[in-house]
Amino acid sequence: MAKVNMVTYTVKVSTGSLALGLTGLTNASTVNSVSIKLVGRKGESERTQLNSMLEAAADFSKGTTSTFSVDCPGSLGELVLIELEKKALLVGDDWFPTKIDITSPEGDVYRFPVYQWIADGQPHLFREGKALISSKDELPLAKKCREKELKQRKKAYQWDVYIKGIPQCMKSDNPLDLPLEVRFSYNKTTQFLYTGAKSALELKLTALVISKDNWKGIDAIAKVKSNDISDYVQKHWREDAFFGYQYLNGLNPMLIRRCTTLPVKFPVTNDMLRLPGGRSLEEEMKNGNIFLLDYENLDGVEANIIDGEKQYLMAPLVLLHSTPDHKLMPVAIQLKQKPSKTNPIFLPPDNDWLLAKIYVRSADFSEHELNIHLLRTHLLAEVFAVSLLRNVPMVHPLYKLLIPHTRYTLQINSLARGFLISDSSGLFKDYAASGGEATKTILKKSTALLTYSSLCPPDDIKERGMESVPGYYYRDDALKMWAIIHRFVEGILGYYYKTDAEVKKDSELQTWIQDIFEHGFLSNKRTGVPQRLSSVDELVKFATMVIFTGSAQHSAVNTGQFDYGGWMPNDPSTLRRPPPTTKGSSSESSSVLQTLPDVGTTANVMAALWLLSKESTDFVALGHHPEEYFTEETPCNLMAKFRAELKQLTKYVHDRNQPLEASGSLPYTFMDPQLVANSVAI
Ligand code: FE2
Repeated sequence: MAKVNMVTYTVKVSTGSLALGLTGLTNASTVNSVSIKLVGRKGESERTQLNSMLEAAADFSKGTTSTFSVDCPGSLGELVLIELEKKALLVGDDWFPTKIDITSPEGDVYRFPVYQWIADGQPHLFREGKALISSKDELPLAKKCREKELKQRKKAYQWDVYIKGIPQCMKSDNPLDLPLEVRFSYNKTTQFLYTGAKSALELKLTALVISKDNWKGIDAIAKVKSNDISDYVQKHWREDAFFGYQYLNGLNPMLIRRCTTLPVKFPVTNDMLRLPGGRSLEEEMKNGNIFLLDYENLDGVEANIIDGEKQYLMAPLVLLHSTPDHKLMPVAIQLKQKPSKTNPIFLPPDNDWLLAKIYVRSADFSEHELNIHLLRTHLLAEVFAVSLLRNVPMVHPLYKLLIPHTRYTLQINSLARGFLISDSSGLFKDYAASGGEATKTILKKSTALLTYSSLCPPDDIKERGMESVPGYYYRDDALKMWAIIHRFVEGILGYYYKTDAEVKKDSELQTWIQDIFEHGFLSNKRTGVPQRLSSVDELVKFATMVIFTGSAQHSAVNTGQFDYGGWMPNDPSTLRRPPPTTKGSSSESSSVLQTLPDVGTTANVMAALWLLSKESTDFVALGHHPEEYFTEETPCNLMAKFRAELKQLTKYVHDRNQPLEASGSLPYTFMDPQLVANSVAI
């Protein structure tokens, strides 16, 4: 009988340090035994038990890396996959292995990214770290592995309709139904609940949350926990220059556009205006110095009723002038879309000018929160995540590229549906003019107007004619950020797709984009969203948009919620009186206080904005995720280059902001890469 020369593979198993849930009891460790089978191009090993149950507690406790040996009768050739199985003798013993590194008898190291929870006592297949598009993954076993993985994922991640006419979402009754991989960590859960419960207390608003009283005076409005920007806002909120500034660098930098022809519905005449330098409106439009805010999205929306009282939500038009000293000044406001005698055009000298600006700012609360923030970042990021999880296997380069940008998105959106926009008792229903039916109407109207180009800053800035207005830091940072992400994505995807033909025939990629088009953009061709991808360039642009939307854009429209909304009169969630129908019919002291939200609404909304602006301690900055999905040299080098370029952008932002701060102006930090999260996580 021929003598068999046994060879040995060294297997290093790393267990994560993650804990999940409300109690943290689901932590990454297991005390059950684990077995492994190695599969190579030339054969496979026996299923080998790595340890006994007695040893498991030490070998697979959280944060450890343990080394084992697997003996085989001969070399298995290049390793392709592993089969990992954990006994399930104890309930609640879910295990979270992060990666498995295997050294062959020839000295080659194979790295297997795992990052999955294993709970069920079934064998789980994991591919070696080298990313492969399906046409280059020719082994029959590998193909089967891809198919099996996607079949399971399509079962775990299903589409659901929350409101007809808006992007579809992940099917789950509550956040605890979500697969463990996409759930909040224990730290994130407890901090979120703690901050939520404590925010009213921290803000010293506890006694106020149930009050239905009017504020006694503008200065009596509760000053929330101090913050440099909210202090600045409180000091400057009445000023026209600050009003204009916010449409460039505040919470909603997306609505403003250059105005070259005055809309018929906004009949401002030259005689009404006193533009500096004596220039006419026509001249200044020609010079590119006139800008427009048009809240037509809110037109016809039936405002919410709170505690039996009708609330008021306008659909204003605002004309702004970019002055020679680089200020953006509002020069005319019309609060409803249809011009009429009872819909006056308010001008800066009018008594009601401040009140008119308050109606605009309140319209912006709804437009910003529901369209710019919720729809265009949260809900789209969820669409991108669900489609990725359903259609793209782990071994695919697109999965490795995009999965870090899906972290926590499904759970935060599930919470938003339960507590923020629920039409039974959400924050919007209880405290916002755009709550209840209005939420649905605005989301549907906004979805119908969504375009691909408006999600891509280079196209969006051009379309809005915003290329040259000075001091538009959102634009400057967004374009720089887009270019950095684009270079990174181009490097990664260009490494795996050498020709457009490879993109065209990648069925996993095509199903991914189709699902996004169908379930996210509701098969609306007018959006310009591709239904198929036919070139590497098209794929790179779309993937860049996916990353930009979930990271930089979300940060730009999320981070400042408390900064700009913490001083309520600057961003009122609702208004309680109708707008004046003639000029000069209101005086600031009486009308403003009766129009602004009552004490309780103010306190509740402030507490929510505080929670939604608070960074979690397990925040992951853009490009800095610890998971090693890519293991090959080229993508790892590209990741390092990406981080280096982001660091340079941080320096640019700091250098730009320093003189601004020194001169008492506001810095713009929302897209400083070190403050931008990798994903929509709050
Ligand atoms: Fe958010």
